[in-house]
Amino acid sequence: MASSLHDAPSAAVNGTFAADAKSQVHKKPRLYADPSPPLFTPSDILSEFSHHDPAIARINNGSFGSCPSSVISAQNDFRLQWLRQPDDFYFNQLQPKILQSRTIIKDLINADHVDEVSIVDNATTAAAIVLQQIAWGFAEGKFNHGDAAVMLHYAYGAVKKSVEAYVTRAGGQALQRGKQNGRRVRLAVIDHVTSMPTVVIPVKELVTICREEGVDQVFVDAAHGIGCVDIDMKQIGADFYTSNLHKWYFCPPSVAFLYCKRSVNNSDLHHPVVSHEYGNGLAIESAWIGTRDYSAQLVVPKVLEFINRFEGGINGIKKRNHERVVEMGQMLVEAWGTHLGCPPEMCSSMVMVGLPACLGISSDRDALNLRTCLREKFGVEVPIYYRSPKDGEEGGVTGLGMQSINLLTMHSLVLLFPIHKLK
Ligand SMILES: Cc1ncc(COP(=O)(O)O)c(C=O)c1O
Repeated sequence: MASSLHDAPSAAVNGTFAADAKSQVHKKPRLYADPSPPLFTPSDILSEFSHHDPAIARINNGSFGSCPSSVISAQNDFRLQWLRQPDDFYFNQLQPKILQSRTIIKDLINADHVDEVSIVDNATTAAAIVLQQIAWGFAEGKFNHGDAAVMLHYAYGAVKKSVEAYVTRAGGQALQRGKQNGRRVRLAVIDHVTSMPTVVIPVKELVTICREEGVDQVFVDAAHGIGCVDIDMKQIGADFYTSNLHKWYFCPPSVAFLYCKRSVNNSDLHHPVVSHEYGNGLAIESAWIGTRDYSAQLVVPKVLEFINRFEGGINGIKKRNHERVVEMGQMLVEAWGTHLGCPPEMCSSMVMVGLPACLGISSDRDALNLRTCLREKFGVEVPIYYRSPKDGEEGGVTGLGMQSINLLTMHSLVLLFPIHKLK
């Protein structure tokens, strides 16, 4: 009984994805129901975020994002629909709705085909999918012991650990300084927007360099990508690109996409949680990884509706965030006599501001203590990053960065913090 329960939708889903996907893709009126909805008023926006703790100045959107109440309510509706009649939802609604979300994402990122877009929980899961196939390359003798995976020095810590778990354990070398001793580079991991410290990386140019250098595959970790920087799969040209939608795209936690360029090289990609759809293609595998709550994946159309109620849609939000956060960063550096951690053109919706020397931050622990103190004593939530001084630099290097999601007149400043040299 259990397997027949799963087999039926599997066949239906495969039919939908393989044969009917095209026709679904063209049903734009249903996906983009209201192309010019009324713009939000300031009070609409206040109400959309009225669940935020009013006692906290949350200057940290980068870690966990912000989900508006209309989206939370749509998500709850999906949960109730599931609980009311799970079998009907499972057999008739879940997969077409996930396909609808994938199709919207495909258009947003300018991918060639919806089959290139899988929805997964988060960037961490996406990294596991990409790195797992590298581990199999070693296990199955396609790669040689010592072949390498390269990544940025400022790659996200959890992603570095995944490289260690999947590549180093399998016999590969994890390098942060490019090719060494003629090793073959099987994978390059490039961030689009690094986390701490935060800078926008010229991914398109780096992908081109990787191609020229003969790197097998390029994975862009753009956990902060969508809603924060411009993304276009055809222009960037990476093999894999992941972005969370729960950071800068107003989705509830947790939902991300993994783009996998269609190519023979990418045919051995699988979700690390194996279920009934194993072998039916990554997008379909990822759309059923066992019984769980899929509601976050279903609200992408609702999120798009929310975003389109801002002037200029996501591009307008991105532009205003960037301008406002740079302005605020400059205001702080003037007041504190420090400087920005990088030029404004390298900032996205996040900016780094040097902390004043009088705070005496000289270790990671000091930075964490200050963050805790700001939260507990002043109701300010903001990441603080410490970097030890390099040769020739005076004193400690620390900083604070911030990212503004400033929703029009709502004083919703949401930030993050990175690096910077103290005076
Ligand atoms: C650059 C980068 N990669 C990966 C991640 C992991 O994202 P998640 O925890 O949603 O999987 C983050 C989280 O902030 C990040 O900044």
